[in-house]
Amino acid sequence: MSRLRRDGTGVSLATLPGAATLEAALYRVRWQERSLAPPPAGSALQGVPGDRGLPVLGHSLEVLIGGPEYARRRWERYGPVSWLDAFGIREVALLGPDATEIVFTNRDGAFSQRGWDRFIGPFFHRGLMLLDFEEHLHHRRLMQAAFTRPRLAVYMQRVDEIGAVAIARWPASGELRLHFRLKQLSLDIATQIFMGERLGPEADALNDAFVAAVRGGLALIRRPVPGGRWSAGLRGRRRLEAYFRERVPAKRAGDSDDLFTALCHATGEDGERFTDEDIVNHMVFLMMAAHDTSTITTGAVASHLATHSGWQGRVREEALALGDGPLTLEALDRLPLLDLVIKESLRLVAPVPSLARETVKDTELLGHHIPAGILVSVSPWFNHYMPEYWSEPFRFDPERFAEPRREDRSHRFAWVPFGGGVHKCIGMHLGMFEVKTLLVHLLRRYRWELAPGYRMRWDLSALPVPSRGLPLSVERIA
Ligand code: HEM
Repeated sequence: MSRLRRDGTGVSLATLPGAATLEAALYRVRWQERSLAPPPAGSALQGVPGDRGLPVLGHSLEVLIGGPEYARRRWERYGPVSWLDAFGIREVALLGPDATEIVFTNRDGAFSQRGWDRFIGPFFHRGLMLLDFEEHLHHRRLMQAAFTRPRLAVYMQRVDEIGAVAIARWPASGELRLHFRLKQLSLDIATQIFMGERLGPEADALNDAFVAAVRGGLALIRRPVPGGRWSAGLRGRRRLEAYFRERVPAKRAGDSDDLFTALCHATGEDGERFTDEDIVNHMVFLMMAAHDTSTITTGAVASHLATHSGWQGRVREEALALGDGPLTLEALDRLPLLDLVIKESLRLVAPVPSLARETVKDTELLGHHIPAGILVSVSPWFNHYMPEYWSEPFRFDPERFAEPRREDRSHRFAWVPFGGGVHKCIGMHLGMFEVKTLLVHLLRRYRWELAPGYRMRWDLSALPVPSRGLPLSVERIA
């Protein structure tokens, strides 16, 4: 009854025979009218079930802190397709690999990247991930020139050198807040392989600008209120733009082997090139996409190895078997156990837990009618914890990715840390190589466990971040 009253229909109905059924029917009709547009008359499709959550807040808090358990509750209540309100926006949550497949393959062109605009558009607009359809393919083809294997080999040589020097300088023993160290290091790596230069005193300001821009996307108050996350994000974006714009002319004129120069020189079959604005937009997005995701993944692997000393020993042996030589791509390809551990860590801690799309036309998904103009989300994090596809999904068990188990093959879209379809991560190989390189250097130098009293927890208020910067007790072994 209380839900009926809240929705504004009469209460006296409850005393009539058959009232409960009638009440439920009325409630459903009204609820749906006020939520998503219902299927067209005569359609065999169902509407989307769902609920608003708390007044004003909707489900924002559960989305922020609930993690996979909250998504699971939705799945159990509503199934793979349901609507909710969060952060002042109405969205349709698409859970499970079947729904993921339909969005990623996007056969009828209904799902647009505009979904991201609502979160990160003001901060990362016109980055590759935010472009759509023909324009996206055109930019992606041009950008591919910066991600060929020979180019990756050059970038990785630099990652190897920078990683080796930086990690050798870390303290020999005691507590090390690994997340903070890695964040600094991966920003340093990104600036050197992307920009071809070491950062001077502006490094901290640049890092602050990135953090502000990323956090701006998940601001609860989504307006430029002074002192708020949104305003700070916009300031961060302006600082980043100025930084890259200033450097475009020199990069166009130069011939160094960094990614910035590769974008400046990328030429399509008909001689088309990126404009200066394209390059600035892509650089801002790429720097963000590259350094946060690699930091999270390396930290997640290190945290799992901290609590699974047997695995730490096994992957160290494998890393030491490569010898002391440079970590070429071929060497990095010879680390099958580390590969399993990274895949399992990407399953347990997907660096991009949820992906956004917007419908640009009415569409059908798993028997439901989804109207145009609706934000939809796909959830790698949820898929990665589904007991339907993974045995004991909360357990760290890298061998689930090895033959003969290959649980990742239980569904083509059960494991999707890099997304899928035409927007699948363009930096996947670069990211995996970077993570491996940093881990090999860590394994060569250190043995580690979680700092005494530390309980591993991931803050999910933006991209996942380990609490307290992931304090580890480290001991130098070389
Ligand atoms: C472990 C590391 C990484 C993870 C887990 C990751 C994850 C993802 C995911 C899930 C997407 C798909 C977004 C969507 O469908 O809307 C994506 C796209 C993208 N990623 Fe990554 N990423 C990683 C590393 C990198 C690196 C190193 C770079 C750049 C050097 C990069 C650049 C991009 C770009 C440009 C896109 C957009 C692709 C497109 O729309 O065509 N990522 N990434």
